[in-house]
Amino acid sequence: MELIRRGKVKSVYDNADGSVIIQFRDDITAGNGAKHDIIEGKGILLNEINEIFFNLLNSHGVATHYVKKFSANAFKAKKVQIIPLEVVVRNYAAGSFCKRYGIEKGKKLEPIVEFFLKDDALEDPLICKNVAALLGYATFAQLDRIEQIALNVNQILFDFTRNHGILLADFKIEVGFCDNTILVADEISPDTCRFWDAETGASLDKDIYRHSEGDPLIGYREVLRRISS
Ligand code: TMP
Repeated sequence: MELIRRGKVKSVYDNADGSVIIQFRDDITAGNGAKHDIIEGKGILLNEINEIFFNLLNSHGVATHYVKKFSANAFKAKKVQIIPLEVVVRNYAAGSFCKRYGIEKGKKLEPIVEFFLKDDALEDPLICKNVAALLGYATFAQLDRIEQIALNVNQILFDFTRNHGILLADFKIEVGFCDNTILVADEISPDTCRFWDAETGASLDKDIYRHSEGDPLIGYREVLRRISS
């Protein structure tokens, strides 16, 4: 299969029939690629977690790019034209939100949606809807629709993870166009979500790696174990 794109942790291949095959590699990165490691088995683990979350969204009628598992570390997806915005939903303050606004980690937020411009060279700056529309990334109506989709995805993921002893603090999704429909694309995994143990508050996600707090796969395996039960 022809390699279409090699991202920091995933590779996308053309599957000829109009779909793509997205492979999770064993890479892990943080700080816009400043920190990089390979952790054997990570790709397989992420593929399994991602499969559960996308099947959940599909079963709730959310339009997504996810078709089905393809191999141990890859899945088949509809080819979408990605909108270069990272769509972040926050239930609890963490990460860049705390840094930007001087807010204490863990503060309960009404679910809020933020947009970031997906541009490594600019270090993914926060972008408001007005600027995103002005620069032509999407129309106002599309941005409103993306916000609605993101909040709906949040509700589904939040309720599901809560039932498995996990607090969904925040997450990022990407969306794209396919046949004039906006689909949820990319991945949903401990690389792109903050999952906190509902009792202890311990991170079960990439913050373990960002903050060099041990083997991130221990947290990732725990997420998989809980959401599979
Ligand atoms: P942030 O607090 O660093 O803005 O991240 C918010 C959420 O988005 C967090 O769950 C991590 C996720 N995220 C990504 O998946 N990719 C990214 O490039 C960034 C900046 C955040």
